[in-house]
Amino acid sequence: MSPYLVTRTLPVNATDADLRTDVLQGLGRDTKSLPPKWFYDARGSELFEEITRLPEYYPTRAEREILLARAGEIAAASRAGTLVELGSGSSEKTRILLDALPDLHSYVPVDVSESALQLAAEGLLAERPALSVHALIADFTRGLALPGTPGPRLVAFLGGTLGNLLPDERAVFLKSVRSMLSPGDALLLGTDLVKDEDTLVAAYDDAAGVTAAFNKNVLAVVNRELDADFDPDDFTHVAHWNVEREWIEMRLRARSALTVKVRELDLAVSFAAGEELRTEVSAKFRKEGIRSELAAADLELGHWWTDEAGRFALSLSTPV
Ligand code: SAH
Ligand code: TRP
Repeated sequence: MSPYLVTRTLPVNATDADLRTDVLQGLGRDTKSLPPKWFYDARGSELFEEITRLPEYYPTRAEREILLARAGEIAAASRAGTLVELGSGSSEKTRILLDALPDLHSYVPVDVSESALQLAAEGLLAERPALSVHALIADFTRGLALPGTPGPRLVAFLGGTLGNLLPDERAVFLKSVRSMLSPGDALLLGTDLVKDEDTLVAAYDDAAGVTAAFNKNVLAVVNRELDADFDPDDFTHVAHWNVEREWIEMRLRARSALTVKVRELDLAVSFAAGEELRTEVSAKFRKEGIRSELAAADLELGHWWTDEAGRFALSLSTPV
């Protein structure tokens, strides 16, 4: 049996200072918002997996198409000994990379969702007994302590998750990724691209209502962890394309005027009828924008691959 390690840098109890601070700050201000990492409890991770299989949600299929077409080139360019994956979730598409990297010794999936990591790591261990899997339960927006596994290191950040960070957060995040790379290492980044509004909105507001359920799951997390009394039925799911910012905004809109109690925080939060809580953005990118955001973090864009339809891009960058 190969080594299988799990390292936790997050507190075991999710009712930690982070959630309290985020809820206090996010619901306490005029424009209400909550950070997206709170979507991903066990139920949230399951719902996300369901999203990836929806007919309207093209990013997963587009990214898989690119990985299948380019895995050999990625392997040749990176010669990775260790694959670190940030926000790895189910590690489903990652299997394509694991199969293609001939010198791979270690896989280090990093995620806040312990349930998703556990499931992925157990599956991989059974399928690939020779691979060393070191799962990290951690927040990738905080400093990560990566294990000292053999190089070169390939850091993968797939699924368009970069777009879930705000521009200033992306700048800080990309610098921290840069600090994980030595000469010879590389970053493999999956980014969704700007396209027509109908396609984008449908991907975040599907007919079956799975994305609506996913969005509302954040209310269930706050109810459970902070003893709040949100009724998900009091809110409607909204996906709005912000043309100036070129991002999709996910929101929850109060159907009527209401007050929510967050008992653990001794907090009462009032919503006016129609008032919206912003739960997530999903930014869409253009090649030149990605190039300059990478350059600002001392990363040089090398390869740029898209799917046939030009919906999604995978890029490979190296430290300068
Ligand atoms: N890479 C997968 C999953 C993308 S969904 C794919 O492409 O399908 C985003 C993933 O990032 C989820 O598994 C979520 O739990 C994780 N995540 C979100 N914010 C995070 C954070 N701050 N730190 C670590 N993981 C995070
Ligand atoms: N990284 C995914 C994306 O931006 C996350 C995601 C997909 C998501 N669907 C969602 C987040 C719906 C919130 C709500 O595409």
